[in-house]
Amino acid sequence: MTPFLLTEVLQQAMLQAARTARLKAYAPYSRFQVGAAVLDQQGRIHAGCNVENAAYPEGVCAEAGALSAMVLTGSLRVRAMLVVGTGGAWVTPCGGCRQKLREFGAPDTPVITANETAMGPRYTLAQLLPESFGPEHLKTP
Ligand code: THU
Repeated sequence: MTPFLLTEVLQQAMLQAARTARLKAYAPYSRFQVGAAVLDQQGRIHAGCNVENAAYPEGVCAEAGALSAMVLTGSLRVRAMLVVGTGGAWVTPCGGCRQKLREFGAPDTPVITANETAMGPRYTLAQLLPESFGPEHLKTP
């Protein structure tokens, strides 16, 4: 496979997609808007926003929405994820979303944080979810 380059241009496109998605967030309860973008194996970008619910636990994170959008197009590999939160602190995916990303990512998949004005620290999926459980564990020999 050709080596994958997460170019500055791609990162900026992800940032733009996540920021645009964030503005669509439905977060009337927390007022905490989140946008996420995933880059797939074909170089396409899929975005999502958080969608809250009056039955609070039924709310969906931005990262989950972005992954659903990717799967809908037939793509099943994530090359990078970028998350734009609200306020000063950098937002990384919650535990559940780290596991959701684990399904379609790899240990070295970059997870980039950002806010309205800047890019923040970046991590690998393995840093955020070490010693994780994934599809290969379900394969019987
Ligand atoms: N949220 C996300 O969408 N992604 C994250 O990484 C952290 C939290 C959402 C869930 C909820 O709608 C709001 O942010 C506050 O927790």
